[in-house]
Amino acid sequence: MRRLALVGNWKMHTTPSQARELARELRERLEGIRDADIAVCPPATSIPAVAEALAGSNIAWGAQNAHWAEAGAFTGEISVSALRELGCTYVIVGHSERRHIFGESDEMVAKRLVWVIASGLVPILCVGETEAERELGQTEKVLTRQLERACADIEEPPAMVAYEPVWAIGTGKRAEIGDMEMAHRFIRERLAARFGSKAQGVRILYGGSLKPANVAELASSEEFDGGLVGGASLSASSFAELIARAIERRNH
Ligand code: PGA
Repeated sequence: MRRLALVGNWKMHTTPSQARELARELRERLEGIRDADIAVCPPATSIPAVAEALAGSNIAWGAQNAHWAEAGAFTGEISVSALRELGCTYVIVGHSERRHIFGESDEMVAKRLVWVIASGLVPILCVGETEAERELGQTEKVLTRQLERACADIEEPPAMVAYEPVWAIGTGKRAEIGDMEMAHRFIRERLAARFGSKAQGVRILYGGSLKPANVAELASSEEFDGGLVGGASLSASSFAELIARAIERRNH
């Protein structure tokens, strides 16, 4: 089995001072945990505060997006060199909120992915179908398109892929274990078709209404390599509890 990874996606929550507090509390609660890779992705403006609070701990940090150029005339974008300087390990790429609210295309996602990998940061490539696509039976078609286009210009598979069905994000409607397993298996098959045996090393995370109360069921599956957690990562107690339950189930 692959090592568990649990990543908090704070989205546009926390000011720098709030982020520092949350990171400090997480550090206290998660001290000593060695059985999973743990990270948080605060808003870009809160990364310095989080980096300071988590330096030397067992919790890594990352960003929610990154641009595909070293620097340049790209108002509002964030460079990977800035993220590296802030000690980031991870970058979320192609989150559904970027795709659906801000109109990011598969091609933009592909360019971001190339640059993140080239910079030595660990990408968390997000894929997932909308509710309408699911109802039309297009889940596999959508996952295939997103993966093929995102991976068009890379030689190595992304180290992490997050399967996040859009209908499950922030809705309280988590995917059933069977749906998660089918999607994760399908994603690994597509990655294997493109990258061969290297696909075995990719960690496939689930995201979408993951909570302390429902994580154990998913963590019982071999297809679950971890989670990308939104709402439940915004309180130190719930994120810590979610992590503890996932590890406990995995070590069971
Ligand atoms: P959620 O968000 O856990 O609040 O559903 C997950 C995500 O968007 O990464």
